[in-house]
Amino acid sequence: MTQQIYFIAGATRGIGLVLTKKFAEANSSNLIIASARNLDKSDELKALAAKLSNIKIIQLDFASEESINTVDKQLEALGIKGIDTFISNAGIFENKLTLFETDGADLKKHYAVNTVGPVLIFQKVYKYLLERET
Ligand SMILES: NC(=O)c1ccc[n+]([C@@H]2O[C@H](COP(=O)([O-])OP(=O)(O)OC[C@H]3O[C@@H](n4cnc5c(N)ncnc54)[C@H](OP(=O)(O)O)[C@@H]3O)[C@@H](O)[C@H]2O)c1
Repeated sequence: MTQQIYFIAGATRGIGLVLTKKFAEANSSNLIIASARNLDKSDELKALAAKLSNIKIIQLDFASEESINTVDKQLEALGIKGIDTFISNAGIFENKLTLFETDGADLKKHYAVNTVGPVLIFQKVYKYLLERET
């Protein structure tokens, strides 16, 4: 099986962490770029990457354009020229309030992480996907 390069954004827990593990274990020649919002709070992902050397961790905060703008540099440092599959998994649902209780700050926070972030990151990642297009 040929090498597959995956970029899983939001890989510290939940679905993103499980996908990272599964893709890494499926084939040792696969390469998984797994992003963490906060490297200091990503112990499970770091432990997994210590066991499976085909997992490489980068820092990425969907709510920060400054962080998103570092993606090229971080991929370059890993020698990444192309990506086969990008999974924009990071997201939040922290608002447990009703429509009439919620406020603008809370709505904007969800919009930034769940809507703006994925678009800005996709703008960065698209050229890497074209490199591996068959
Ligand atoms: N599970 C469900 O039933 C369900 C249903 C519908 C949609 N979804 C969506 O599917 C995705 C995964 O679900 P899940 O249940 O696995 O979620 P989860 O356990 O809450 O994990 C969310 C992931 O997103 C990351 N994340 C949150 N805010 C971020 C930010 N600003 N920048 C970068 N990463 C950030 C988290 O990182 P940290 O560890 O740093 O917080 C974590 O890695 C989410 O987008 C979720 O909204 C899930």
